[in-house]
Amino acid sequence: MKRILNTNEFLHGGDYNPEQWWDEPDVINQDFALFKQAKINTVTVGIFSWAKLEPEEGNYDFSWLDSIFDRVEEMNGHVVLATPSGARPAWLAQKYPEVLRTDNLGNKRGFGGRHNHCLTSPIYREKVREINTKLAEHFGQRKSLVLWHISNEYSGECYCESCKNAFRDWLKNKYGNLDNLNHAWWNTFWSHTYNDWSQVNPPSPLGEMGNKGMNLDWKRFITDQTISFIDNEAAPLRKITPNVPVTTNMMAGNPLMDPFAGFDYQKVAKHLDFISWDSYPAWGNDNQTTAELGRNVGLVHDFFRSLKHQNFLVMENTPSRVNWHSVDRAKRPGMHELASLQDVARGSQGVLYFQLRASRGSSEMFHGAVIEHLHPEQTRAFKDVTTVGKDLENIRPIINTNYAKARVAIVFSYDSYWALQDAESYSKDKKIWQTIQKHYRYFYKHDIPVDFVSVEDDFSNYDLLIDPMHFLMSKAYLKKLASYVKNGGRVVGTYISGVVDENDLAYMNEWPKELQDIYGVEPLETDVLYPGQSNTLNFDGHEYKAHDYCETLINCRGKVLAKYASDFYQDTPAVVEHEYGAGKGYYLACRTDYDLLEKFYEKITANLIPEFPVKKFSSNISIQVRENKDQKYYFVQNFSDKSEQIKVDGELEDLLEKKIDRGEVVLNPFGSKIYYKKGN
Ligand code: GAL
Repeated sequence: MKRILNTNEFLHGGDYNPEQWWDEPDVINQDFALFKQAKINTVTVGIFSWAKLEPEEGNYDFSWLDSIFDRVEEMNGHVVLATPSGARPAWLAQKYPEVLRTDNLGNKRGFGGRHNHCLTSPIYREKVREINTKLAEHFGQRKSLVLWHISNEYSGECYCESCKNAFRDWLKNKYGNLDNLNHAWWNTFWSHTYNDWSQVNPPSPLGEMGNKGMNLDWKRFITDQTISFIDNEAAPLRKITPNVPVTTNMMAGNPLMDPFAGFDYQKVAKHLDFISWDSYPAWGNDNQTTAELGRNVGLVHDFFRSLKHQNFLVMENTPSRVNWHSVDRAKRPGMHELASLQDVARGSQGVLYFQLRASRGSSEMFHGAVIEHLHPEQTRAFKDVTTVGKDLENIRPIINTNYAKARVAIVFSYDSYWALQDAESYSKDKKIWQTIQKHYRYFYKHDIPVDFVSVEDDFSNYDLLIDPMHFLMSKAYLKKLASYVKNGGRVVGTYISGVVDENDLAYMNEWPKELQDIYGVEPLETDVLYPGQSNTLNFDGHEYKAHDYCETLINCRGKVLAKYASDFYQDTPAVVEHEYGAGKGYYLACRTDYDLLEKFYEKITANLIPEFPVKKFSSNISIQVRENKDQKYYFVQNFSDKSEQIKVDGELEDLLEKKIDRGEVVLNPFGSKIYYKKGN
């Protein structure tokens, strides 16, 4: 059965920890009064509440949470109920020390912190299953329960004996025998051949860190361990509450805004019903404009939406500031509304915060909150949240729409990302995510919807695939890509692609045949440049710079779109277009600045640029569409601190200000318009 988040309004609210205030009923009364004022309709409860839910082993006390459900139901609100496995009570860690993690130096961790548990420990899994069962039995029939939020921001690894044994079992299952493993990991190198499974250990600075196959398999193992932990958590929830979807909050890094890569989110997503993520961009930082950061955030929204190719939820963001960036700057006036509406524009079914009320003590006491310690109703955060609450009410029908269909997709493979990052060559920082961001910039500028695809996704719905720095390509992927192009698809590939196979072993003798067929060339050598060095290339009569990586190409059978202008490969091809079957491959052999990518994509995307009933004149403006078969909604947003002009063709209804706009319209600094147009 397909379980989806099913509400008729946007969720607005967030992490709430009333257990911290249980002996102060006035505080809780004040919270609910303020929720009403700020148009908060959702609380996410139970995260990190295990000690209050099960104060002693087997002795559960859910009465406090019952009364929170009652209060939420009195206001016709929603509860996102978390399972508490992200942090465990002291009694549990003391009685069953095996549940705590061991690091890669063999140090056993003590009680404390959070996310400090072994993913393999049978006792921990059993304890989690027990409390999840009790929670589902107790709260499963509550009408306000809309979503299960399992654990919190899964991450991390454990290197205890049970995890080592589980890794060995995983390897036995994958390779069958040690000969296969020795070959796949190329273990004759440095005499690393194993002749007994007990000799195999996870990567560790105390032992082996340089074995590429091992490092890659360890990441894959951690992915599978996390998945089996998730399945274990979710099993009782799915059984007892078959209609309530299961999610967990995913993460993106800061300041790069790259998706967490500790394990493979694309694989994990298959074990969740719904995707949610925690969005903490450093708005107002000193080295990026808001428009640039807005673009990177748009990209990562697209990444998370694409994990299931359906709407998602921003599970956390801050109403003002965090407490863990290098500088915890609060959002500028207007920024919170802009960012929140961007979440919705890209497919979020709500705007949720960490946190509704600020803790009084401990590590997150100074993190921004809807309800702060002092003058809670007067803070900018509270007022900003109230504004967003009103906006979400005004745009309520949009809940029944989806993000516009994309015809362009970026291929992202965790295996390839890990393997290339781990490759001891090229340069230390290969800037893979920055490369994706640079290609994406063109599509963002023209408001062309972009999806991400995994190597296992169906490509047939896309006109154009962007496949940059795809270092590790499995034989299955090569076949699939070739057949996509042969059947009429187009793909843009770049330098450092198709270098190794699924075991991280180099392809031999010639570049994979499929890539030669697609791109009509073969790379021979990669010239790696120091940061201060560059080459030039000529494209359409203009000179552009090449940096970092310049591949020399041989056996060129395609149309040369650009040639290098200097160095020992002067006058050799740098950008090649090649027809294959009914489709085309474009190969960019070097890293360039954005200016070349812009010219290049202009040539090949004319059929992809959408037409809107509203025109923009600046790349600070983003126009995103959510739609269903009868309706279209245009989110027009100004990511700059200056006013910008737009032009409406005919008339459009502005849902936020509830009026009709015509002709030239001014968008305020950080301002948004959400226009409705009937029909498709
Ligand atoms: C998230 C986490 C929350 C809280 C928040 C602070 O990563 O899930 O529990 O710590 O960060 O920004």
